[in-house]
This record gives sequence, C-alpha cells and structure tokens, in this order.
Amino acid sequence: TYVVTESCIKCKYTDCVEVCPVDCFYEGKNMLVIHPDECIDCGVCEPECPPEAILPDTDPEAEKWLDLNTQYSEQWPNITRKKDAPTDAESHQGEDDKYNKYFT
Ligand code: SF4
Ligand code: F3S
Repeated sequence: TYVVTESCIKCKYTDCVEVCPVDCFYEGKNMLVIHPDECIDCGVCEPECPPEAILPDTDPEAEKWLDLNTQYSEQWPNITRKKDAPTDAESHQGEDDKYNKYFT
C-alpha cells in the first residue's frame, strides 16, 4: 500500500484524490489518509503530490504513518474530488514537526 505522511498536514492539495482509480482517500481536518486495504498499489498518486507526502509503505519514512492511515481511514469521510488547498498551504510546505503542532 501507499500511505500519506507528515508533509500533507496543513497542505492538503488534494491532487492525489483525482487520480486514484479506487477512490481510497479519506479526509481529516488537516490531512488526508489512504485506506491501506483499498489501495491497489498502482502508484499514480505519488508523483501528483506537490510536497511529496505520499510514499509506499516500504519506504522507511512511511513506516510510522501506516497505523495512522489505517486508523483514520476507518473514521474520516471519503474524498474523491479535488478541492481548493488551504490559503496558507504553501507556507506550511517543508515545515518541521507538523504532526505535533497541528494534527488533532
Ligand atoms: Fe490510489 Fe493508487 Fe495511490 Fe493507492 S497508489 S492511493 S490505489 S492512486
Ligand atoms: Fe496531501 Fe499531497 Fe494529497 S498534500 S492532499 S497527499 S496531494
């Protein structure tokens, strides 16, 4: 599976949802997650994300995000259409420690 990681937090560009053939993205207040059981590992979303938040779960950086994607994809609503990013999305790109600062 692929997973959404920290770089998505507060950026939420949603380009990823437009290309997913199985519509397996779910939307929280500050980030999106992928449902690991629904993702078919096609990889098309990965290059669409401007801050490169989407990684295969085989990536060492992705490991700690798999549980979070699993948990919240069961709780958050499905999102299948692109929407406007937050107006301050760009200012949060590349910022450190976004999970501790903003994830609720
Ligand atoms: Fe969807 Fe493919 Fe990305 Fe999985 S890898 S979330 S199936 S676009
Ligand atoms: Fe997040 Fe990137 Fe999608 S910022 S909403 S994973 S395009």
